[in-house]
Amino acid sequence: MATLPLPCWAPTPSPSQPRWGSSAAALTGKVEQPEPPAAEVGGAVGSRRGIHSGFDSIDHRDGRLDHIPRDGGVSITWEDVWVTAADGRATILHGVGGSARPGQVLAIMGPSGCGKTTLLDTLAGRLDTDLRSKGDIRINGRRQRLAFGTSAYVTQEDVLMATLTVREAIYYSAQIQLPDTMLLSDKLARAGEAIQEMGLTSALETRIGGRTTKGISGGQRKRLSICLEILTRPRLLFLDEPTSGLDSAASFHVMNRIADLAARESMTTVAVVHQPCSEVFEIFHGLCLLACGQTIYFGPATNAIEFFTSNGYPCPPMRNIADHFLRTINRDFELESGVITISSKPSPADEAIDVLVNAYKSSNTSENAKKEMHDINEMGGVIIRRNQASFLTKVFVLTRRSFVNMYRDVGYYWLRLGIYISIGVCLGTIYYNFGYGYDSIRSRSSMLMFTGSLLTLMAIGGFPSFVEEMKVSDLYVLLYIWN
Ligand SMILES: Nc1ncnc2c1ncn2[C@@H]1O[C@H](COP(=O)(O)OP(=O)(O)OP(=O)(O)O)[C@@H](O)[C@H]1O
Ligand SMILES: [Mg+2]
Repeated sequence: MATLPLPCWAPTPSPSQPRWGSSAAALTGKVEQPEPPAAEVGGAVGSRRGIHSGFDSIDHRDGRLDHIPRDGGVSITWEDVWVTAADGRATILHGVGGSARPGQVLAIMGPSGCGKTTLLDTLAGRLDTDLRSKGDIRINGRRQRLAFGTSAYVTQEDVLMATLTVREAIYYSAQIQLPDTMLLSDKLARAGEAIQEMGLTSALETRIGGRTTKGISGGQRKRLSICLEILTRPRLLFLDEPTSGLDSAASFHVMNRIADLAARESMTTVAVVHQPCSEVFEIFHGLCLLACGQTIYFGPATNAIEFFTSNGYPCPPMRNIADHFLRTINRDFELESGVITISSKPSPADEAIDVLVNAYKSSNTSENAKKEMHDINEMGGVIIRRNQASFLTKVFVLTRRSFVNMYRDVGYYWLRLGIYISIGVCLGTIYYNFGYGYDSIRSRSSMLMFTGSLLTLMAIGGFPSFVEEMKVSDLYVLLYIWN
């Protein structure tokens, strides 16, 4: 059985006790120090943590990863991944590469529109049908497409059923997603744990709400979406902007709990994160920084600042590191602000992107990342399989959930019932007592035609709601993947 080596993304090294080779060595190409024994890991953690002591945090980059089961976990690597629009007009990702290991949190960052969601979709095997991808994506060293149910994905937009309460949404989801081998009481206990992990206890009985009805807040919706996905303790968790819409304290707690869960359950977590505060940034083990679909940096999050500094972009004092990265490589607003003119040389951001992309390609960090990918692929590991409730359980729970949804949605049953009653009264009045002669045959057939057409049209009117429900239910994902 393949074994899982120690995590390669090290905590911040201390000058007196270098760990997996100092970050400076990674950048300058100096010889790395040998790996210390596992027992030593964690002692020098937090040289940066002392600076930002706003939250009473747990550092997930320390030696707690030692207890990851050596045969468990799922590693994912991707190499030379290209994504283009099907019509060939736009290239969104330009040969990006990287890897993520069990128990760790990899953050994907970059300016808006740089391809973060596209990368996440590609890795999760749920790329839009009008996009084409090529590249080498491996799960535990195998070229395995992530099938439905084998990983969890929290989308950028929350897709939830408006009529359900938070408790119902979580409980139904627990029943559908957790395997039949688990007792119902255990499933509900797991749901309770997830509720506590995401701090949703106070909103349990509140309706989720939607476009027309006010329900839980935006931040609670986000946390609920995460809660529904972590119920199963997935081996592989993809999160698209889990902290968007949350205040800094909530962002920290959510990310901290996700990292804690990742470490505890040896879960591989890849998260697209916008604007993390310094405390949240410290939680990340790895950082994948993208700009215009190219890799600016991929490696330990702690070393990114040194990479920027050594290439001429030091972080000004008192500025959030993540802010500095994004400001340096964001070119979207330079045209509007007049920094770019038609005849002028490249804008500062274009120049920075150019410098950093080239510097990364020739850096030791990039070499280390490739070596890491190679090591992971060599290591192999278990084949990832889905483990969910049986088809019958799903049909039963989904039917029940659907019934509750329709019962509460005025437009589904009650409005229709009103329409049917009024049309029934009209038809009854028009065709009242029209006898049994030959003429009545024509009247009867026209009435039957009218009623049949009416019922058909009314049924078609329910399709939009059906599509909405499909998005929430697993069926949508299934159809999506089949497509
Ligand atoms: N089907 C498509 N055809 C052509 N271009 C597309 C298509 N889908 C996305 N894009 C473009 O690809 C780029 C990357 O999109 P993506 O959603 O991955 O960005 P992002 O980094 O997640 O941005 P944000 O942070 O705003 O969510 C964007 O410029 C977008 O306009
Ligand atoms: Mg996105």
